[in-house]
Amino acid sequence: MTDLVVTEDKIIERILTMELVRVTERAAVASAKLRGRGDEKAADQAAVDAMRRELNKLPIDGEIVIGEGERDEAPMLYIGEKVGTKKGPKVDIAVDPLEGTTLCAKDMPGSIAVMAMAQAGTLLYAPDVYMDKIAIGPGYPKGIVDLDAPVEANIAALAKAKGVKPHEITALVMDRPRHADLIAKLRKIGCSIRLITDGDVVGVIQCAEPATGIDIYLGIGGAPEGVLAAGALRCVGGQMQGRLILDTPEKVARAATMGVKDPKKKYDLNELASGDVVVAATGVTDGALLKGVAFKGDIIETETIVYRSLTGTVRRIKGEHRELEKFHLD
Ligand code: FBP
Repeated sequence: MTDLVVTEDKIIERILTMELVRVTERAAVASAKLRGRGDEKAADQAAVDAMRRELNKLPIDGEIVIGEGERDEAPMLYIGEKVGTKKGPKVDIAVDPLEGTTLCAKDMPGSIAVMAMAQAGTLLYAPDVYMDKIAIGPGYPKGIVDLDAPVEANIAALAKAKGVKPHEITALVMDRPRHADLIAKLRKIGCSIRLITDGDVVGVIQCAEPATGIDIYLGIGGAPEGVLAAGALRCVGGQMQGRLILDTPEKVARAATMGVKDPKKKYDLNELASGDVVVAATGVTDGALLKGVAFKGDIIETETIVYRSLTGTVRRIKGEHRELEKFHLD
């Protein structure tokens, strides 16, 4: 009987899980319509519009605490934007309506629509800046790698714990000039490096999936992506640290207005995303984690994954959608 009583702390999961799926499904379908058109902004805008429309239908008193921003001049669901009907629990929301805009515009693998929701005050409230990140999968002693340790020390410690030689470790790194030094050091160790052009939410999550062969994520990506990945990693297990890159007085000041008192703070997994966080992601283009949206005449197919940190539940939800007018696809 008690199980039927939905208390405030269970509301997000029990009532809103399917609603989150609906939100990311709609954003994914909207941007998938623009796959391969070479127009990143249009694809992003379509995802943002669909996500905002659906979020505003939810029975929540929500606030975007981290999301798209000035960094790539994306049409954002801006930080501080209130969403929902206001009649419901107070929640924090992190969004990346189209994670991998370039991947979508070029119809390359791995773009997703993704969001996270948790009780108010539990997701990192920060500007859309870069974040230095390190992540590993589950099963290792706590603190075995550290964002401030030399890369050689991290790889050596990880290899020892895994029972392999350092050169047998596989690191996932974003292929960016800013990582030249990091990549050179990993090459010197002899590590295998899986370079990705975009999409480090999935990149971090892949550390927790043995089948991917990825042992560690290293390097700098977006801060919203860091919070979203942390939410998923808290569900499946693993370790992660992140530090906002606040490299100008303007960024430090902007972060301070959002409550970031120490601009050099190293955030642990539980500080990036604490509370009972639910993360939902729907594939836009086919990728390692999710199938992309498939348009099959009068039916649209979607694949979504939902993570819930409190219970460690991962749900995969395949959608077959028939009432296509609901997708605003003109
Ligand atoms: P968006 O498509 O949402 O802009 O992000 C793509 C992405 O590759 C992220 O996965 C990553 O965190 C970030 O961009 C890295 O930023 P940059 O492309 O500026 O190096």
